[in-house]
Amino acid sequence: MILVTGGAGFIGSNFVLDWLAAGGEPVVNLDKLTYAGNRENLRALDADARHVFVQGDIGDAKLVGELLERHQPRAVLNFAAESHVDRSIHAPGTFIETNVVGTFRLLEAVRAWWGALQGASRDGFRFLHVSTDEVYGSLAPADPAFTEQHRYEPNSPYSASKAASDHRCGPTTTPTGCRWSPPTAPTTTARSTFRKS
Ligand SMILES: NC(=O)c1ccc[n+]([C@@H]2O[C@H](COP(=O)([O-])OP(=O)(O)OC[C@H]3O[C@@H](n4cnc5c(N)ncnc54)[C@H](O)[C@@H]3O)[C@@H](O)[C@H]2O)c1
Repeated sequence: MILVTGGAGFIGSNFVLDWLAAGGEPVVNLDKLTYAGNRENLRALDADARHVFVQGDIGDAKLVGELLERHQPRAVLNFAAESHVDRSIHAPGTFIETNVVGTFRLLEAVRAWWGALQGASRDGFRFLHVSTDEVYGSLAPADPAFTEQHRYEPNSPYSASKAASDHRCGPTTTPTGCRWSPPTAPTTTARSTFRKS
């Protein structure tokens, strides 16, 4: 079992569909269903018992704790976010609530639960935080692509809120993402990017 957040959104729903098409491992899908979340994206899974949809907020530590206890996931994949740059300029509050505070509360709930695990389930557990290359700022047309060695230079409320959540996910940025350092549960951050082919 894995726990996916934001799995009714653009990327999260495609991940859930691909995941269940590729294998048999069930998914708990926690999504608040904001303007960006759409159950229609998951309609193909209506009769699929491997998909458990829960409407709720990643910042609801009680709910997250209950889901972790009930389903004992081997991984948490955090796609949930406010993700639209222009909306963040006009109304940054929800970006701070979900991307900064919500991610923090999610991490704390996972850490509390993971900290009580033993043996292989503790050692094998992973938290994947899905971030964005926007934390590195902007590129001019002729610039080479960002690498993970770039400085953080967020330049919108959206990217600043994602940068804040990245830094909460782990203290050490390496070529493979944020490194786990106690007392955070083992965490990797993916700063997703699109590249012209
Ligand atoms: N779409 C892109 O171009 C892009 C590029 C790079 C990185 N990312 C990152 O990938 C992730 C997914 O992006 P997306 O484009 O699918 O976003 P999206 O806006 O389409 O979907 C976000 C999902 O999160 C849910 N959500 C929002 N707040 C929530 C909360 N507090 N609790 C639970 N669920 C909540 C929404 O209902 C929605 O289903 C985000 O973290 C984003 O920063 C996106």
